[in-house]
Amino acid sequence: MNNNFTRKRDLSKYFLPNINRARKRLEDAKTLKDNFEIPTNLIGYGINKKFHIKTFGCQSNVRDTETMMGILEMIGYKHTDDIKEADLVLLNTCAIRDHAEQKVFADIGVLDKIKKTNPNFIFGMCGCMAQEEAVVNRILKSNFNIDFIFGTHNIHRLLNILEQVLFEKNLVVEVWSKEGDIIENLPTTRNNNIKAFVNVMYGCDKFCTYCIVPFTRGKIRSRSKQDILDEINELIRKGYKEVTLIGQNVNSYGIDLKGENYVFSNLLEDVAKTNIERVRFTTSNPWNFTKEIVDIMKKYKNIMPHIHLPIQSGDELILKKMNRPMKIQDYLDLINYIKENIPYCSITTDLIVGFPNETREQFERTLDLYNKIQFDNAFTFIYSKRDGTIAANLPDSTSMSDKKEWLLELNELVKKYAKSQNQKFVGLTLDVLVEGPSKKDQSIMSGYSPQWKVVNFKGEANPGDIVKVKIITASRFTLNGEIVK
Ligand code: SAH
Ligand code: SF4
Ligand code: F3S
Repeated sequence: MNNNFTRKRDLSKYFLPNINRARKRLEDAKTLKDNFEIPTNLIGYGINKKFHIKTFGCQSNVRDTETMMGILEMIGYKHTDDIKEADLVLLNTCAIRDHAEQKVFADIGVLDKIKKTNPNFIFGMCGCMAQEEAVVNRILKSNFNIDFIFGTHNIHRLLNILEQVLFEKNLVVEVWSKEGDIIENLPTTRNNNIKAFVNVMYGCDKFCTYCIVPFTRGKIRSRSKQDILDEINELIRKGYKEVTLIGQNVNSYGIDLKGENYVFSNLLEDVAKTNIERVRFTTSNPWNFTKEIVDIMKKYKNIMPHIHLPIQSGDELILKKMNRPMKIQDYLDLINYIKENIPYCSITTDLIVGFPNETREQFERTLDLYNKIQFDNAFTFIYSKRDGTIAANLPDSTSMSDKKEWLLELNELVKKYAKSQNQKFVGLTLDVLVEGPSKKDQSIMSGYSPQWKVVNFKGEANPGDIVKVKIITASRFTLNGEIVK
């Protein structure tokens, strides 16, 4: 190893993550509007330099990457898709399952090798894994020559952290395990000029027993209605056609805005009234998904008929152990209410198989529920133990080979209904927001239907157009058709 590149590890200088601290909900969140500044000795530092950010995980990370791109471009850096030509690489990581983490460790190994051949190359890790005590300890104990680690609450300090990296020999670690604030007015570079993610709330207080997110993202905090609407009106002025309101549990929006009596259905209505062409939202937790939300969706044509409503399991005891106590009948009633009120609404879900000590019988209740609802699609996962969560301490005698078999069995159902649900659209004409030529066949155009289905079609259209497409065939993955006038 070339010691020239080895950074000193001075624990006394670090803000390290602390999972117990992250669990606490003591301080009120503040909205901070002037919390970003460019350190004077970094002005212009990135001119003629390139950066690359590799993003893992959910929409929250995708949106954070846009903010970090905006921040780095403020000092002259240009983005590159090619890691090999980057002077600076950031891994914006996800901690949701072990598999996601292993991919990041593999990448750290690759970047470590690049650093050995190029002393000027710098790389860092941010995102949800940076908030995990065990992960940061593992990196500190390793020989990886990583330059910096910072947490999800420290994004606005990216340039201050970079300044320390450039002018000190120490590995820089700045992770605040805290409730979190709302930081407005950060620079941003959107990675799409037709569709945009808009944060409506941050964090999560639900503490589902398997989930790491409340620890990595802090407590629930809702942005002010005015800040959200201002952002959307600005996007409309710039020509955006679609916004997706994002948060870990968007239907909890507003419960922390004390005394305001302004909840997600109110926000959704106000966003629809901006008259942007398309409004979507994700993710919703079924426990407080109100009928008012469905009523507002029904009232406004620009709210797209797609609801992602993760149930996780079809067994009530498992749901209780997950701290998502819901009666399956209440979930079925909600789905029926949606289907009755919003024709052709697509409904998708997330499911976990192999929660600690799950039995075959309990798993079969998930299959039963799936057969009853016939979801348009689902993300399915094998339970992954996360340090610090309650479920991590539960005994688990269900074998991994059973869990793997169950996942395959469940995925067969997912495939079957994805196809049959898509076939319902054959013969219908749908409005398609055009993305561009299809990746597989450049002579065909591709876009999304209101139900969030990929539509491939023949005919002339430009990215950003909304065109009418008659659906002729449907597969599990796509609807296929041609433009009609
Ligand atoms: N806030 C969303 C979910 C965000 S995480 C909600 O409550 O619906 C996305 C999905 O990852 C979850 O819905 C769940 O299915 C899955 N997931 C979360 N933690 C997991 C774990 N420890 N093991 C396996 N899957 C997990
Ligand atoms: Fe995780 Fe539950 Fe919060 Fe979703 S609602 S982010 S699954 S704790
Ligand atoms: Fe992953 Fe963090 Fe999102 S754990 S799913 S990137 S909130």
